Amino acid sequence: KRTVGIVVAAGTGTRSGSATPKQYAPLGGRAMVAHSVAAFAAHPGVDTVIVVIGGDQEEAARAALGDVTLVPGGVTRRESVLAGLEAVAASGGAQRVLIHDAARPFLPAAVIDSLLAALETHGGAVPVMPVADTLAFGADHLGDVVPRDRLVRVQTPQAFVFSDIMAAHRNWPADREATDDAQIARAAGIVVALVEGSLMLEKVTYPDDFAAAEAKIAASSH
Ligand code: C5P
Repeated sequence: KRTVGIVVAAGTGTRSGSATPKQYAPLGGRAMVAHSVAAFAAHPGVDTVIVVIGGDQEEAARAALGDVTLVPGGVTRRESVLAGLEAVAASGGAQRVLIHDAARPFLPAAVIDSLLAALETHGGAVPVMPVADTLAFGADHLGDVVPRDRLVRVQTPQAFVFSDIMAAHRNWPADREATDDAQIARAAGIVVALVEGSLMLEKVTYPDDFAAAEAKIAASSH
């Protein structure tokens, strides 16, 4: 089954506090985005990798990634994913697609294994983690607590049958945003399986996250 990994890297990364978009900032000796691209490329279940980049990022992306297919993204993450999916469709389509945030650089092969296994019986699959903290509404003061025992934190990569997620994205209203692709899949009636996520997949968003990410690299190389 032809399987394409799409890495979305077209964000501006304004929350990271870095001058260059965070996905090109160095992490463990290479650009952040290069880590997940390498993880996809090294996985025997993934045939092709494409990277969705911002309009002014081509030079940085080429320098970081070398000879990989680059696709221009959109203003929002959802638009960037749609651009990536359309690029897959235009280049002959695929059976399966894995959609991943460049901001989650450490992509364990075991998670890809679980996702592809779940796709044998489901239209979609996502890695999830439990919620450890108390969750509550918070505005001026602390509000009501939200019971956490039935909640999960949803990570990427998110895996889908390509034709299903392509149709779901095309049918999603252009004036409505979504923070991930599983919610777009669900809106189209795709049943999304849950597989075990990983602490390695935590998103690198804020300046402090870079230090934590460097520590993960140091720990995993010993
Ligand atoms: O900003 P956030 O961390 O939620 O972005 C998640 C991922 O989506 C990042 O890898 C970012 O580069 C990507 N993105 C994108 N196009 C956008 C906005 C975000 O590809 N317009």
